Amino acid sequence: MKNKIIFLSVAAAALVSSCTGGSADNVVSSPDGKIKFALDCQPGGLFYSVSDNSTDIVAPSRLGFVLEGNDSVANFEVLNTVRSSHDETWETVWGESREVRDNYNQLTVEMRQLGGDSLLVNLEVRVFDDGFGYRYVFPEQGRDSLVIMEELTEFKLAQPAEAWAMTNHDVYYEDYYRKKNIADLDTVHTPVTVEFPGDKYLAIHEANLTDYPKMQIIGKDDVTMKARLVPWSTGVAAYVTTPFATPWRTMIIGDTPGDLVTSYMMLNLNDPCAIADASFCKPMKYIGVWWEMHLGNGTWYYGPEHGANTAHVKEYIDFAAENGIPGVLVEGWNIGWEGDWPRNDHFDFTKPYPDFDIKEITDYAAEKGVTLIGHHETAAWTTNYENQLDTAYQYYADHGVHNVKTGYVNLLMDGKEDHSSQYGVRHYRKVIEAAARHQANIDNHEPVMPTGLQRAWPNLMTQEGVRGQEHNAWDADGGNPPEHTVLMPFTRGLAGPMDYTFGTFNFDNPVYPGTRVRTTLAKELALYVIIYSPMQMASDTPANYSAQPAAFQFIKDVPVDWEKTLVPDAVIGDYVVTVRQDRNSSDWYLGAATDEDARELEVKLDFLDPDAEYTAQIYADAPDADWESNPTAYTVTEQTVKSTDVLPLKLAAGGGTAIRFIKK
Ligand code: NOJ
Repeated sequence: MKNKIIFLSVAAAALVSSCTGGSADNVVSSPDGKIKFALDCQPGGLFYSVSDNSTDIVAPSRLGFVLEGNDSVANFEVLNTVRSSHDETWETVWGESREVRDNYNQLTVEMRQLGGDSLLVNLEVRVFDDGFGYRYVFPEQGRDSLVIMEELTEFKLAQPAEAWAMTNHDVYYEDYYRKKNIADLDTVHTPVTVEFPGDKYLAIHEANLTDYPKMQIIGKDDVTMKARLVPWSTGVAAYVTTPFATPWRTMIIGDTPGDLVTSYMMLNLNDPCAIADASFCKPMKYIGVWWEMHLGNGTWYYGPEHGANTAHVKEYIDFAAENGIPGVLVEGWNIGWEGDWPRNDHFDFTKPYPDFDIKEITDYAAEKGVTLIGHHETAAWTTNYENQLDTAYQYYADHGVHNVKTGYVNLLMDGKEDHSSQYGVRHYRKVIEAAARHQANIDNHEPVMPTGLQRAWPNLMTQEGVRGQEHNAWDADGGNPPEHTVLMPFTRGLAGPMDYTFGTFNFDNPVYPGTRVRTTLAKELALYVIIYSPMQMASDTPANYSAQPAAFQFIKDVPVDWEKTLVPDAVIGDYVVTVRQDRNSSDWYLGAATDEDARELEVKLDFLDPDAEYTAQIYADAPDADWESNPTAYTVTEQTVKSTDVLPLKLAAGGGTAIRFIKK
């Protein structure tokens, strides 16, 4: 990553003893002056409020903590305030935009707790043109360890509004996002996406979740959302050693749904790249011995139907090599899949099953210019995994394997702790760091919700934490409804890359009747542009792709690393149009998708170079396509277009359009 422009200024105010509301001393504005964040330190507590262009967005909302022993860290005297500004443009290792501008004004308020142990706490506030973040910092002080029971942090909206959110019932974040009144948010995961009156869109989340539990949200009344921290089994939220900084509590503020998607504030609130040479962190597409097993053809465990056998894996490698797909994922290759899953501490990450000849397979793959993507299913038995971490990654590195999918299928880690607790967060970080030591990239399934760590650790390429394609193979409810994928960019997608694994070309499933992929084939293609991940799976089988070569061409062509991303048109949960420029060519790509309603849209091509003409290769729903009755009907056409054109799009029910624009 490269810093391009840096402007930094710092000013410290004279000692002040209070921060009563309304004083200019306690207000920090965005660089464009539109967003204003005001602190109000009263005898009754510390509050913040936010306005955007004079519209009140956040009403006075409480800040603070409760420590062990019911010690409330909520009333403060202000010792000092420090202001600074920052303007830097940095380059992502990979991502949705090559350049990211990090431009904010910061206010740091240094405070001392009134009562209790007179703890020192700083509140750091950064206000950007697209939102704000704040975090609590406990500087080094007499008391070096704190036991946090609860955060008092609130996001109290200035007006009632509806929010898209997922309940915390599914620890893997594999549930639906529903729109509810704030009061009905009965403990939900973030991101929480608010449709605020007056055409404002807000997204509440966090950035840089390090050694701390995940924040959830509880609706208290029709405007107030309170933070909840996912506790340890002891009931404690976090064990903290000073000096310590919490994750940033963030709100993106946009005028359109697309503004949420193209905000990079979360990345800006994470640390710069911690990997000295990140050249191994390369985006890629992959196929895998995977979907067939989810459909019930082949097993992960050893036996007559074992999927990960040398001959079968070589067939996948051949197909990948023939089609320019760099990676082949193989699951079920190592000892440990049989037995008692709830207490599965017997996965061995260096012992293949007898019919999986890892040397023969990786040599064969290397000859063909393909790489094996490894798999570590841990069954969430993290102690077993941590005991093997370095040997497991070294074993893969010795075989030239530098991309590993990890998995944590079990409701609790080690039979007792939540994935999203401080225990889980610590574990995931250990894995990222161990993988980096062995130059391995991670595709983490059953993760803690992402918070932008990929800026510091670009080897954390992608994560699940989404109700992905696999639910369309076997879920008792039949599969994800058409609206699901047009909600994802504005909810889960705001937390970072998603390993959703689309690209299915077969829509019937004889093994689990009633389940199906609820899109058209053209929409499956469009999702490669709409749903971002630097590792994108083509999840169907070689046989199904070979049966549809014209459509498969788009999957072969579509990039996984982008120069620039725009969202020209969207209604959350109804439809979305996303365009992205390839980072490695002058081509642009468009993905448009709709929910269960057929739709006609018009897209201005003003994102294209005004001095050029382009060949548009258009993969569209056929006139009679429909996700339910005729999903595979699509057309591929070509036409010449330029930036002044307006392109009509016709999306079938549950359908989509994918376009490659090739500069002439
Ligand atoms: C759940 C993961 O999401 C899926 O991709 C994987 O195949 C299974 N666990 C087995 O590890």
